[in-house]
Amino acid sequence: MDLQIPEPISTPKGWVAFADETWTIEPKELQIFFQAEAVFWTASRTIEQWRRLLACSRLLTARLQAAEDKGQRLVGTTRVWSDQAYEAKLYDVVTAVDMKGFGIASNLVRWALRHPTIGNVQRFVLETRDAGELYTRFGFKRSEEVNTVHMRANMADLKKLGLHE
Ligand SMILES: CC(C)(COP(=O)(O)OP(=O)(O)OC[C@H]1O[C@@H](n2cnc3c(N)ncnc32)[C@H](O)[C@@H]1OP(=O)(O)O)[C@@H](O)C(=O)NCCC(=O)NCCS
Repeated sequence: MDLQIPEPISTPKGWVAFADETWTIEPKELQIFFQAEAVFWTASRTIEQWRRLLACSRLLTARLQAAEDKGQRLVGTTRVWSDQAYEAKLYDVVTAVDMKGFGIASNLVRWALRHPTIGNVQRFVLETRDAGELYTRFGFKRSEEVNTVHMRANMADLKKLGLHE
């Protein structure tokens, strides 16, 4: 299957290459990367949860090729999920703090939007607290602009209502 992997990009720190690491990455490496980058929404994510996320979505990564003796450092991620017919969703768009501004997230998002796992969906969605501007260039609009209201029920609320064990 043609994965349409983006070409490596040149940065002042070295070349950055992209890959679909869904089936090869160690959940522990992901946990360490997200903790090191102090990503607030994954702060309590366990290895087992990472494993489950990898089982039902795709993890696209960026790795810095520079350091000969240090291997290929993980410097960017984007995760994508799709029902292949109606909706696809982007998650975990993160770039290492010292690698920001080189186009890593843009390449990962652009790739995720055309990844074969998407199938033939009608729309993409994502949630963001303060990176909204990044996504407008990819066609994303705020929910109020498309006359919808984003609603969600947290598990704790469902439990309180007796709707979940
Ligand atoms: C948001 C984030 C992923 C961007 O990564 P990046 O690799 O630096 O992004 P790019 O280099 O591809 O930048 C693309 C453009 O988006 C802009 N941009 C980057 N971060 C942005 C932010 N938080 N808000 C608005 N615009 C942003 C950049 O200025 C750049 O614009 P330019 O091309 O005109 O210079 C990165 O800042 C990050 O990891 N932030 C913390 C985690 C986070 O908030 N993720 C988003 C969750 S939805």
